[in-house]
Amino acid sequence: MVRVTAGVEAHTHEYISTSHEDQKFGFSIAGGDALEAVRRIVAAPGLKLLGLHSHIGSQIFVTDGFEVAARRVLRLHAEIERELGVTLPEFDLGGGFGIAYTTQDDPRHPADLARSMRKIVEEECAVLDIGLPKLSIEPGRAIAGPAAFTLYEVGTTKTVTLDGGTSRRYVSVDGGMSDNIRPALYSADYSATLASRESAATPVLSRVVGKHCESGDIVVKDEYLPSDVAAGDLLAVPGTGAYCRSLASNYNHVPRAAVVAVRGGEARLILRRETVEDLLALDVE
Ligand SMILES: Cc1ncc(COP(=O)(O)O)c(C=O)c1O
Repeated sequence: MVRVTAGVEAHTHEYISTSHEDQKFGFSIAGGDALEAVRRIVAAPGLKLLGLHSHIGSQIFVTDGFEVAARRVLRLHAEIERELGVTLPEFDLGGGFGIAYTTQDDPRHPADLARSMRKIVEEECAVLDIGLPKLSIEPGRAIAGPAAFTLYEVGTTKTVTLDGGTSRRYVSVDGGMSDNIRPALYSADYSATLASRESAATPVLSRVVGKHCESGDIVVKDEYLPSDVAAGDLLAVPGTGAYCRSLASNYNHVPRAAVVAVRGGEARLILRRETVEDLLALDVE
């Protein structure tokens, strides 16, 4: 497959937008690099080109970016067929379908999105008068993201007074940017809920923060949590099944957390907690 840049400004954070011109991924369609790359692959003995590939970015909720990308990449697909006489059997529109990290997020169902994509591709192929290639998509977080949540234990809390006299309560937990780098990396939003007990206490504006040595070590930037949340309580942060464990690090030389699978009320440890001994095991004596 040849990854192409469709020149699309996806509606998402710049760091996870991957199909505008000024970024590192893909051969530019507008600049002619994509067609040239295809020419060279077609001419190279031993290489078989299956198709064009576009991935416009991640955590995208509106389909217009996918639509623009699909139409632009299909035009190149048709141009390759016309000019080089090569019919590419596949067409890959990548992933990037947003999931609900907070109650503000309203994702479309993947099956619904897939139907829309297929319709766009069918329409454009009819306009371009080309056969329908096999359509692939690569939904990453839409599969794995909602499958997990992270459970943190509260350490300390403190309340600060903000300009205008309002206040914010900081709730520190026993994890942070080593188990979820996304908020620190590109201001990703998450939500949190008190998981270890019920509380009828008044909700107060809270910021859930980690235990690392950065003020930017934020787990959940803004959340209303019961005012009686205190040390020892457990907080659940949903939507952490993608890009959390796989991006986890030993930031500050902190050992990584365990992963537990739960089904039908049964829990099974699938990744054990990392120990200090694990970290020291790489030291050469
Ligand atoms: C080429 C490609 N396809 C698909 C994905 C999946 O993206 P998402 O998890 O946002 O759906 C990624 C993520 O980085 C990617 O780089």
